[in-house]
Amino acid sequence: MLISKKLNDAMNAQIGDELMASNQYLNIAAYFDSETLPELAAFFFRQSDEERMHALKFVRYILDAGGTVAVPAMEAPTTEIGSAEAAAQMALDWEIEVTNKINALMDIAVEEKDYIAQEFLHWFVNEQLEEVSSMDGLLSVIRRAGEKQLLMVENYVSRQAAAAPEEDEEA
Ligand code: FEO
Repeated sequence: MLISKKLNDAMNAQIGDELMASNQYLNIAAYFDSETLPELAAFFFRQSDEERMHALKFVRYILDAGGTVAVPAMEAPTTEIGSAEAAAQMALDWEIEVTNKINALMDIAVEEKDYIAQEFLHWFVNEQLEEVSSMDGLLSVIRRAGEKQLLMVENYVSRQAAAAPEEDEEA
């Protein structure tokens, strides 16, 4: 077995966090869709898919390392979205929290001199920079536009999507 019980347990908890984020982003996507803001809805549907892909990466890693996958129980995501600004703030807060969780996983891997896990976790460290930066950018643009001018935000999101490189979908 190439994974310790401590890291295995922490990665199982992370699978739950990634799936919870996926569910939360699905609710946010549905909120934007119901507000007839299709680009923002599509952005959060894509984010939801990405979070599921993150969970699957952990599943694959645990299996490859000879550990045990145990998907934990998850809290229901909130349906109280309220506004575009609140949605973006919720997503940004979440991504900052996930960054701390990924750092904590890396701390375990470093502590245990588990170089294979460190190599695997580097992908997530880089991904978090992109995710925090993307949510921070979205929140700024929403604040600048204001809730009455979200069509400007739709334009921004659409341009960002067109300029984005293809996501690494390998799980
Ligand atoms: Fe899987 Fe957005 O962190």
